[in-house]
Amino acid sequence: MTALLDAAERLCREELQVLQLERLRSTLRHAYANVPFYRAAFDRAGLSPGDCRSLGDLARFPFTTKADLRENYPFGMFAVPREDIRRLHASSGTTGRPTVVGYTENDLSMWADVVARSIRAAGGRPGHTVHVAYGYGLFTGGLGAHYGAERLGCTVVPASGGMTVRQVQLIQDFRPEIIMVTPTYMLTLLDEFERQGLDPRSTSLKVGICGAEPWTQEMRHEIEERFAIDAVDIYGLSEVIGPGVAQECVETKDGPHIWEDHFFPEVVDPLTGEVLPEGEEGELVLTSLTKEAMPVIRYRTRDLTRLLPGTARVFRRMERVTGRSDDLVVLRGVNLFPTQIEEIVLRTPALAPHFQLLLTREGRMDTLTVRAEARAGASAEQREAAGRAVAAAVKDGIGVSVGVEVVDPETLERSVGKFKRIVDRRAG
Ligand code: DLL
Repeated sequence: MTALLDAAERLCREELQVLQLERLRSTLRHAYANVPFYRAAFDRAGLSPGDCRSLGDLARFPFTTKADLRENYPFGMFAVPREDIRRLHASSGTTGRPTVVGYTENDLSMWADVVARSIRAAGGRPGHTVHVAYGYGLFTGGLGAHYGAERLGCTVVPASGGMTVRQVQLIQDFRPEIIMVTPTYMLTLLDEFERQGLDPRSTSLKVGICGAEPWTQEMRHEIEERFAIDAVDIYGLSEVIGPGVAQECVETKDGPHIWEDHFFPEVVDPLTGEVLPEGEEGELVLTSLTKEAMPVIRYRTRDLTRLLPGTARVFRRMERVTGRSDDLVVLRGVNLFPTQIEEIVLRTPALAPHFQLLLTREGRMDTLTVRAEARAGASAEQREAAGRAVAAAVKDGIGVSVGVEVVDPETLERSVGKFKRIVDRRAG
């Protein structure tokens, strides 16, 4: 196994920290010298790159937020001349201007390296065929996965998202070992296999590399069981690189290892910004260590997780992200994440793994309705009991009353990529 690891994966913790500090100092110098935004932010804090003498000193530097990126739209965060930018990606976001990210030739190569490393950690090997069902385009998922798979020496099928009928045919005909896909789109594929009368457990697939949206252990079991594959978690975000910031190893399946030789993680209290001790839950903050085009210093991801010691690799792990501050629903004072409902729905045998959360407002009262699909063949009594069981589990486990509507099979919208769980019908 060690023969398969690259040089950075074979470092010991101390060697890794020496490398991180050297790269961190150089990143701070690069950002300060070339990005007016960082120069102004450091100056305001009375800091210069030289003030970072240990990894812990990074905590003294100011944060960068998505709003900062938006304000510097389109190219204000770039640290190299525009001609040295080889590729742009952008995330649409829900409101306002998109966030633009840029990559130099070296950045693209580093990105391919970390994704190749991720695929290998998931069990992919040179010579495997990789079906990429992440969307191609401005979204980083498709192209990020694509170049990583090529870098590892795999055969890539650039399927992109959507056209589900054809995806199933491609999987049947090209016989990929690996699929890279959002977990919710994997469920859409599952339905399509079954609709065509094909057994999803008998495909050539061995591993699903799933990410780009939160998912639970229950969802992992559903995917693994119904496809007879291993399903592992890949994490990333465009602002930091794209997919491949962190990857779960197939042999341990204990949360993604952060590729710490390129991305330095901190977990902070989302309210005070205070750095939290390892193991405590808070917001993940990432600093790029090797990026040229768009270094990010202490980027607030809004993803909630905790840092854990390394297991299958020297790099620290993050707990799988089950919530993002943006997805938090506050219902009559109680905090709730869609993944908490996912756990409950997927544990209820009469329900299919498809559900949506409908938010409405009556007077001043916000109401949440869980609309979940019945499994084909569930009787009226089973459906009714399932609805009651979900409402009771939410009340007991989360502490709030919600409505539950069990709808007919095949009636809810299906995912084609990142799925929008929450339908917000609260006006104003
Ligand atoms: O979603 C990059 C990506 C593509 C990751 C394909 C993995 C696979 P963005 O569109 O910028 O980039 O969205 C980033 O998605 O901050 C998280 O909130 C969420 N996210 C990404 N991966 C995971 C994951 C891509 N494994 C945002 N678990 C992040 C939970 C995830 N949430």
